Amino acid sequence: MAKPVLISGIQPTGPLHFGNYLGALKNFVALQNSGKYRCYFFVADLHALTENPSAKDLEKNILSLASDFLAAGLDPKKSIIFQQSQIEELQELKWVLSTLTPVSELMRMTAFKEKVLQAIKPIDGEKISKKRFEEIVEEANFGLAEYPILMTADILIFGGQYVPVGHDQLQHLEFARTLVRKFNYKFGQTFVEPKELLTATPRVMSLDDPTKKMSKSRPGGCLFINDSPELIGKKIRIAVTDSGSDIKYDPQNKAAISNLLMIYSELSGLTISEIEAEFAGKGYADFKKELADVVIEYFEPFRARRAKLKSAAVKKILMDGSKKAHEIAKKKMLAIKKKIGLVL
Ligand code: AMP
Ligand code: TRP
Repeated sequence: MAKPVLISGIQPTGPLHFGNYLGALKNFVALQNSGKYRCYFFVADLHALTENPSAKDLEKNILSLASDFLAAGLDPKKSIIFQQSQIEELQELKWVLSTLTPVSELMRMTAFKEKVLQAIKPIDGEKISKKRFEEIVEEANFGLAEYPILMTADILIFGGQYVPVGHDQLQHLEFARTLVRKFNYKFGQTFVEPKELLTATPRVMSLDDPTKKMSKSRPGGCLFINDSPELIGKKIRIAVTDSGSDIKYDPQNKAAISNLLMIYSELSGLTISEIEAEFAGKGYADFKKELADVVIEYFEPFRARRAKLKSAAVKKILMDGSKKAHEIAKKKMLAIKKKIGLVL
């Protein structure tokens, strides 16, 4: 039996933070190396266009993300690593899927609402009236609304069954499954409903506010995987902590230390209780110092591999992967067109 297809992408919108790494990229590598799946990993450059980057920034970010993929351990011999915009058929499939999607469903997406609101930079806790929100939506770029349809097309064109992502993408996957059901009902069994694969840390929280998820839109609360050892040490030292002084996992009452404990556990391979035992009777300062050491040491090989990557080689890997992915997408799109009555 053929192995199931696994697919995921990350947007090239700037450096990767620990949420991206622990919610997605680290797991991509583990899933690839498990040998259980046919893996596709891509740079979601079309999705990044919704943020209206300059051409120069986009180019730089595409190469930088592909370099992160490779330095983290994605391997073109084991996975198809590609650039989303090279797959023209995604536009066709996105169109087909958009004709099955009510506009209201797109407007209800949490990610859409968040992105639209980001444009006006509301102050934390500020209330936005329904009328004001509607005005903002009317001004939003249409790509933000179409975002989940393109994401569904990404998955379906490669027959994706498993999709490793962080918690913030769950609603988009639910949306994808709904579209699959609609399509199959109308045109006959064509796609399988994709399932998410979450890590133990699907929602890494911000270092400056543990009630908010770590996010590129709040760079002050991010640890980036390319941060220098000095900066990592500093950011961890000044990360907010909770009241009390015990190193105890308690996400309800001690959200900050619980978040740091999860990061420690994921990077050291120790369980939370082993770490708690190690720090019994010690304070936050001792814990943070150790955590910084763990993080710095963990990313040492990543930094070394990344420093050696040449941009020409990275581009070639991306182009070769894109060619392979494109061939697969072409065949699938033809089959889809037959199903929907476009091929005479
Ligand atoms: P993006 O940068 O939006 O393309 O996100 C890339 C991947 O990182 C997606 O699978 C996200 O769900 C995941 N991700 C983003 N932020 C976090 C976070 N704070 N915790 C866990 N996963 C995250
Ligand atoms: N929307 C995802 C994110 O913001 C990126 C993405 C685009 C994706 N297409 C995808 C993830 C397909 C998984 C599968 O992180």
